[in-house]
Amino acid sequence: MKNIPAKGIDRADVLAHLKEFGADDANYRDSKIWSLVYYLGEEHTNFLKEAYGLYFSENALNPIAFKSLKRLETEVVQMAGQLLNGDGLVVGTMTSGGTETCLLPVVTYRDRARAIRHLPFQPEMIAPTSIHVAWEKAANYFGVKMVHAPLDKNFGVDVEAVKKLINRNTILLVASAPSYPYGVVDPIPALGELALRHKLPLHVDSCLGGFLLPFVERLGYPVEPFDFRVPGVTSIGADLHKYGFSAKGASVLLYRNMEYLQHQFFVYADSPTGIFASPAMLGTRPGGAIAAAWAALNAIGIDGYLDIARTIMDTTLRLKKGIEAISGLAVLGNPAMSVFAYTSQDKDLDIFAVGDQLEERGWLVDRIQNPGGLHCMVTPRHAAVVEAYLADLREAVAVVRSNPDLAGKGNAAMYGMVAHIPLRGMIKTQIIKMMADLYGPECKMPSAPEGKQTTWLERYILPQLLKILKR
Ligand SMILES: Cc1ncc(COP(=O)(O)O)c(C=O)c1O
Repeated sequence: MKNIPAKGIDRADVLAHLKEFGADDANYRDSKIWSLVYYLGEEHTNFLKEAYGLYFSENALNPIAFKSLKRLETEVVQMAGQLLNGDGLVVGTMTSGGTETCLLPVVTYRDRARAIRHLPFQPEMIAPTSIHVAWEKAANYFGVKMVHAPLDKNFGVDVEAVKKLINRNTILLVASAPSYPYGVVDPIPALGELALRHKLPLHVDSCLGGFLLPFVERLGYPVEPFDFRVPGVTSIGADLHKYGFSAKGASVLLYRNMEYLQHQFFVYADSPTGIFASPAMLGTRPGGAIAAAWAALNAIGIDGYLDIARTIMDTTLRLKKGIEAISGLAVLGNPAMSVFAYTSQDKDLDIFAVGDQLEERGWLVDRIQNPGGLHCMVTPRHAAVVEAYLADLREAVAVVRSNPDLAGKGNAAMYGMVAHIPLRGMIKTQIIKMMADLYGPECKMPSAPEGKQTTWLERYILPQLLKILKR
């Protein structure tokens, strides 16, 4: 077991250790990864660090003690509200990130349903199968049944199916703008009509697109209305730490008006410390994340975000065009912005084996399942690596075509198997065991294969699963 050193180590040495530990991490500075980090370069990062540092110790738990943070949070909420076409009544809070922004509306709307109508025996929410897993987590945490609506052939939610799933237990409709797996914006106007007709709230999860889609639209790309312009939309989540290019730990959750937000507030009057009131999930709320978000919005500005969106969309189009020019590969659905997945349309070309080959060439590859595909989230920095990625992809496809047995090897075999294992419960049990290893006292962490960028799933989970499956 590691002890706190009896005598403090020199700060310079401590920092040197930290730098050294990161040497094996995913290489986002060279844009070799397609998820997890939204990076604009060192200059912007240093600016965010400075803004964060100015409010490093401040705590937004108490808005009276730190009025400056309340002001910054209010302004961030207002700027986001305006961007997403809210009127003067839009209200909201900042949160620690996309997941909190997805968890909170479930509590809010559940408690609202309790307050304003006969509480259904088992509250239900309806969301597309493509909804982010944070919503599954919310359903699980807060005892609201998740009812999945299937997707249509374009990978947006099937509105007719949603209509049929509404019943007297339904408390909430959820949709994405866009979804993480396919980057497709669900048909929000049609869902809005449905929500109004059934007097149901409609939350739009725009964690991914909230700070990009409005600019993509302004550039003239087709974007179906997804924000407060759609009358039935009652709330929207948008992450500042994604395409807002702020420091990690910042998202915004907006409600059409206070009638909704009031159900999010938590008040406890009987604590020994007096009356406790909290606007969101956390107790201590880091001032730095709020300050950095405010700083990012102000420093980048509308012109900056438009430039960023232009680069991102140009890069995405180049990438998609290059991918579709490779025989057998196709982009799934009709992605609205810079997140998409592509698949193999050719049964002799295993897409997961292509992913393995890309990893051999130093890329960190994200996969999707059912249908199997490879996933990309494009940032402006990817503009410099599109050609290199496409060249490697062409090579990867050629290697897999001439070695079809690669589909049965390495991660390809595992991903293929995982997608087809009928006993999903077995996977869950096994994964919990792996996580117990990873987070247990010995922190068992297998090292990455030499020179390979790998996801935690591949490194920790899949090898174990493969062992079990072979038994
Ligand atoms: C649509 C959507 N919602 C929610 C989240 C969760 O965000 P976070 O990872 O910041 O918790 C994500 C993350 O990618 C997302 O794409």
